[in-house]
Amino acid sequence: MQKAVKNQWSSRWMFILAATGSAVGLGNIWKFPYITGENGGGAFVLVYLLCVALIGIPVMMAEIMLGRRGGGSPINTMRVLAKEAKRHPIWGLLGWMGMLAGIIILSYYSVIAGWTLAYIPLMASDHFHGMDAQAVADTFDAFTGNPWWLLLCHTAIIFLTLMVVAKGVCGLEKAVRFLMPALFLILLILDGYAYSRGAFSQGLDFLFASDFSKLSANSVLIAMGHAFFTLSLGMGAIMVYGAYLPKEVSITQVSITIAAADTLVALLAGIAIFPIVFANGLPADSGPGLIFTTLPLAFSHMAGGAVFGSLFFVLLLFAALTSTISLVEPAVAWLGESKGMSRKNAAILCGIFSWALGLLTVFSFNKLSDVKPLFDKTFFDIFDYLAANILLPLGGLAIAVFAAWSLDHHMRHDELNTQHDWFVCWLFVLRYITPIAIFIIFLHAIGIFA
Ligand code: PHE
Repeated sequence: MQKAVKNQWSSRWMFILAATGSAVGLGNIWKFPYITGENGGGAFVLVYLLCVALIGIPVMMAEIMLGRRGGGSPINTMRVLAKEAKRHPIWGLLGWMGMLAGIIILSYYSVIAGWTLAYIPLMASDHFHGMDAQAVADTFDAFTGNPWWLLLCHTAIIFLTLMVVAKGVCGLEKAVRFLMPALFLILLILDGYAYSRGAFSQGLDFLFASDFSKLSANSVLIAMGHAFFTLSLGMGAIMVYGAYLPKEVSITQVSITIAAADTLVALLAGIAIFPIVFANGLPADSGPGLIFTTLPLAFSHMAGGAVFGSLFFVLLLFAALTSTISLVEPAVAWLGESKGMSRKNAAILCGIFSWALGLLTVFSFNKLSDVKPLFDKTFFDIFDYLAANILLPLGGLAIAVFAAWSLDHHMRHDELNTQHDWFVCWLFVLRYITPIAIFIIFLHAIGIFA
């Protein structure tokens, strides 16, 4: 067995909170609405929901199971389990790919989390008071157009992430317990505002009425990639959290709870944003700035908007931080186990890599906004596309294949320890539906069937 991990979650709830903390973040509140806007709405949302159910939940169960069984960083977990199942050590590569994906995602994620940080004082000082949609958008453009601001905020986020990571997972437990429910509440308040003052039915129509003519093969790939991204799957974050999970906890239950909470937060965010978008005649497909140009508008017209607005961005910042720390956890755990590095030094090393790579994202919104090295995409777009739509689904595919086909049956059965019917159903989906779906979506996206 792998060297025992020092950290352990104090209870099932703590694991759920921490894994939900990893899952719920900018992916739900920033990314989900803007990619839904860019990909035409309802049909995209439906594909995303299907991907969560048929790919996300089974892969999450597999990833937690592998993590708990292996008990170490993803690289070592995969090596240990491959050995136990008498398979080739090449499976360790999955851990390497996950570490790489984590560093890439952190590099741009922290830039966006930096925007959130910058919006806290703007909201608190009632900066947007009385502004119209154009003025709010101009503020956003002026902010992102200034590389120094973005650099400062990006650096601050990396720094904050390192401070938490260096302390170990336990420090985190306490924070998530209060922050998650608070974020949830404030989203409900925003939904209430959207209901009373926004173009509510138009917003809901956009989100839930499926028009498949708007759905391209690439949109389907993005929906699947987002299912992985939003649930933090395919790169080892959930695997390494699973390593800290006590034996008696039901993996099925926790997976379904996490996926449900994550999906709910994304939908609540969408329900808040699109009615505001349509009520103000804004374009739904305005890209990564979407929440930063719509929500300040809502808060500025709301009683107590400065308080709610700043609270919202504080909570979003915390939600982002509970995700950034999970992005480096696979690498930090591995550097500790295999290289004997302290958590602090390991965290600093990962932070430096992500910070440096993040400079390309910082400049993607200003100095390098016209530089589009691949497929007419900026560096930021390339990193996001590569990590979310390619690396994570590939990692998920490998996890599904390994857990469903390579692991000994008794190991699976033992570790999952769930009702027989559930087990059979899960194994069937993970063996056939999940890998085939991922494969077909990939083939479609590269135009094989076109
Ligand atoms: N799930 C996080 C979010 O939605 C992002 C993330 C991706 C975190 C992959 C860890 C691993 O914001």
